[in-house]
Amino acid sequence: MRRREAVARLAAGAAALLAAPGVALTQGGTRAAPPSRGTAGTARGATPRPAVTVYKSESCGCCTDWVKHMEREGFAVVVRNTEDVDGVAAQVGVPDQLRSCHVALAGRYVVSGHVPGDLVRQLLREAGGQAMGLAVPGMPAGTPGMESPRPERYQVIEWRRDGTTRVYASR
Ligand code: CU
Ligand code: CU
Repeated sequence: MRRREAVARLAAGAAALLAAPGVALTQGGTRAAPPSRGTAGTARGATPRPAVTVYKSESCGCCTDWVKHMEREGFAVVVRNTEDVDGVAAQVGVPDQLRSCHVALAGRYVVSGHVPGDLVRQLLREAGGQAMGLAVPGMPAGTPGMESPRPERYQVIEWRRDGTTRVYASR
């Protein structure tokens, strides 16, 4: 019983944000499509776009460019401007060392910083039990939204329920 309460409390932070007015309660992209029996002409356009809600400062240019990147990657993006991105990051459990200029919610996952959209889609597909989210800490040049003639190599970090992290991808 107490365990269930603890889990409910853990979820409450993200749930409160998701329940904010105008934010769709959706688990976009996590549900597998039923196997298709059709051949030519099967309707594929009905697949809903995965939803992502982005918390960013109104004046942040690279955040806006990441939003555009996510839209190009097929996400339905809801932008919520805030002057307290760090407060939101804390509320949804982004570890201090993994924070960046914006934080986003995709399904039950948290995305911190300039994470490539294809990796967010991959995480939603995998729906891994331990994963809490993906982060590109700081703002490395060459990440989506931080395009640069001098791109750096960077790592995308996954953090987990048990507090551990691992390198999810290197780019
Ligand atoms: Cu940025
Ligand atoms: Cu940003």
